[in-house]
Amino acid sequence: MSNQEYILEMKNITKSFPGVKALDDVTLKIRPGQVHALMGENGAGKSTLMKCLFGMYKEDAGEIYLNGERVNFHSTKDALEHGVSMIHQELSNVPDRPVMENLWLGREPLHQVGPLKFVDHKKMFNDTKELMAKLEMDIPPRVSMRTLSISHQQTCEIAKAVSYNASVVVMDEPTSSLSEKEVSHLFRIIRTLKDEGVAVIYISHKMSEIFQISDEVSVMRDGCLIATKPSSEMDDNSLINLMVGRDMSHRFPTVESVPGDVCLKVEGLTSVVPDSFKDVSFELRKGEILGIGGLVGAQRTELVEAIFGLRGIASGDIYINNKKIDIKSPQDAIKNGVGLITEDRRGSGIFPLLSIIDNTCMSSLDGYRNKMGLLDHKRIYTDIVKSNKQLRTKTPTYQTRIQNLSGGNQQKVIVARWMMITPDILIMDEPTRGIDVGAKFEIYCIMADLVKSGKAVIMVSSEMPELIGMSHRIMVLCNGKKTGTLSKEDASQESIMRLAAQFD
Ligand SMILES: Nc1ncnc2c1ncn2[C@@H]1O[C@H](COP(=O)(O)OP(=O)(O)OP(=O)(O)O)[C@@H](O)[C@H]1O
Ligand SMILES: [Mg+2]
Repeated sequence: MSNQEYILEMKNITKSFPGVKALDDVTLKIRPGQVHALMGENGAGKSTLMKCLFGMYKEDAGEIYLNGERVNFHSTKDALEHGVSMIHQELSNVPDRPVMENLWLGREPLHQVGPLKFVDHKKMFNDTKELMAKLEMDIPPRVSMRTLSISHQQTCEIAKAVSYNASVVVMDEPTSSLSEKEVSHLFRIIRTLKDEGVAVIYISHKMSEIFQISDEVSVMRDGCLIATKPSSEMDDNSLINLMVGRDMSHRFPTVESVPGDVCLKVEGLTSVVPDSFKDVSFELRKGEILGIGGLVGAQRTELVEAIFGLRGIASGDIYINNKKIDIKSPQDAIKNGVGLITEDRRGSGIFPLLSIIDNTCMSSLDGYRNKMGLLDHKRIYTDIVKSNKQLRTKTPTYQTRIQNLSGGNQQKVIVARWMMITPDILIMDEPTRGIDVGAKFEIYCIMADLVKSGKAVIMVSSEMPELIGMSHRIMVLCNGKKTGTLSKEDASQESIMRLAAQFD
């Protein structure tokens, strides 16, 4: 028997994968009507623990109790039927199907005609409309998932998890692509769930969210549960110390470089897509970090993807080192010394079945050919180890498939990929999304080193502290238009927000 004070108890859970002990005797207890934050560095075991609960992985040892009763879910369907639902860290929808089919996948409403059963599309449509209305979300049921922005796709996942009326809802980094407005919307939904007695397990690397929304915090490190405490007894520093096991009073390194000559000039850039970026002009200097701020939907990703040759340009010019150039494809961009770390790592960043070695070196292979045109595998290996070590990528071996790494560690491999080329102009789109505090600092150091050596960095970010802490200047977009550029001295959360939302 178990204690009814808790709605969920996971006791002494252990789980190993080849070469890693992902969970080591973890005990986690969750109260009803509370938000329980789960924190820890990349690879600490947070997602694995939740996947054991959700029936996606079978723990090697340990017991799970729901409402005091021993449970053992064999599949996610099993978990859902028992009132446990989960928002996954990586988007897991079917891109070519409509929103409504994604929402009711595997539990479609049926209507019976004689002996036959058919999916009741009308009911599905109405149910979706009703759910969206209840959650005050504005997503049409019939549009296909692929056409939605990543933030809207994430919103759909939230709606889906809530629609099961579960008593335990797991949210694994639900806000990684949400705007501030969408985050407060999610928090309203979470508060309603709490009032209904639902327990929410909330995983995030964003410290401010944890203090806003959670009642209790558990911290994991290297597969072990280090501590569980009321959030009110913790602050930023004590939480970080628990997570990384060392003091981290400096969140940003000093950026020493002084910007020099203009290396990139963009003039009047306008997208071929009607509601995208319009007439954007800016300059980037050698040794400069230019931040690009704005709300989700401001077309920042679209803009940098166009500069990298991934999207069409209707008009406008791009100059690199004062020479007008034509960028029609990423190959053109790379040839001209431009690199891009994309925000959507699953969709366009990683090759899930390939190893860490392959994922790291794939953009820089040309630099590793000998006179005969053959690849120098030894040198590749040395370099990929070096860049992954610098970022502290956590993996059993470098031959491991990248899909087996934790979300944050996959992102590190992509950053490592571009460090191998060190393009003259590196564009980073949400470079630290899903990355823990310790590794964020490493990425900031790499940015600082790059610009110190005369390279230039463009950083698209939704995290205000990071924009302010790292950029020489911050350009802000709103609805595809540039609304202003702030110097380091003028940049504050308020001044950025004012330009991003165009209050005046
Ligand atoms: N399917 C798998 N096969 C092999 N190893 C795995 C698998 N899933 C997770 N791991 C390993 O287990 C460890 C814990 O990973 P997990 O995804 O739980 O971390 P996390 O705390 O969620 O990190 P993040 O903050 O980066 O999402 C990592 O070392 C990871 O490489
Ligand atoms: Mg995870």
